[in-house]
Amino acid sequence: MFKINDEIIVNLDEYVDTSSLVALKPQIEYAIALHFDKAVPSQYVGDIFLDKGKGFLDITDDERVEFFNKYPYLKDLTHNQLLLWLRYHLNITYGQSHLHVISSRSWEHKHLRGECDKSEVTESFLPFLDWVESQQIFSSYGRVNLFLNEPGCSTPIHHDPPHKHISPKDQFIWITLGDRKKFFVYDENTGEKHYANGTVSTFDNHNYHGSDPGKFANWSIRVDGVFSEEFLTKTGMFRHFQ
Ligand SMILES: [Fe+2]
Repeated sequence: MFKINDEIIVNLDEYVDTSSLVALKPQIEYAIALHFDKAVPSQYVGDIFLDKGKGFLDITDDERVEFFNKYPYLKDLTHNQLLLWLRYHLNITYGQSHLHVISSRSWEHKHLRGECDKSEVTESFLPFLDWVESQQIFSSYGRVNLFLNEPGCSTPIHHDPPHKHISPKDQFIWITLGDRKKFFVYDENTGEKHYANGTVSTFDNHNYHGSDPGKFANWSIRVDGVFSEEFLTKTGMFRHFQ
């Protein structure tokens, strides 16, 4: 497994002000409610799944044609509506949606401000973004993605980069408030799930990761950026990300 400072998940809570972050929870959830209709079902592409047979939403062109032939009315659906239809139609229990609080133009440059754009929901998340800036975690940050899981919906075990040989050492923080989201990094050798137990964490997204189905709706936010020297020094992650 790829580790950071010999840890599978690095809990960063002692280096940030978690109480002012927790105080923002109702406002963040207000913004989620306000923009819920704009959430996009997460579409996973490539060979990134632990279970190669479960390419949720990653259907082939042939399968798509087959669905359209069998159910001609599907042609009237928008892309997102079609993904939702698939979520109900296929015999699966998982599914995650996301909101681009700040979107990136490419996967490779998601940490760079100049390669990212504000979205129609950014304004509603300004209190959260102000918190991120006030913590001086990043010298600058780029993409901000909010992940939403409905009750009973898990996030399938996957790795982020399309290739699994060398870690690009993505610099990001992963945030959840409360204990609803059962997020874990998966050890493919032992089958063990290592659960995140903090509010603000980071991990190597080259490792398989996912989340168990929750009893209640849950969310998490990931912020990609360039860690500040100050943050790397105080967290002891300087050498890892050098
Ligand atoms: Fe991921």
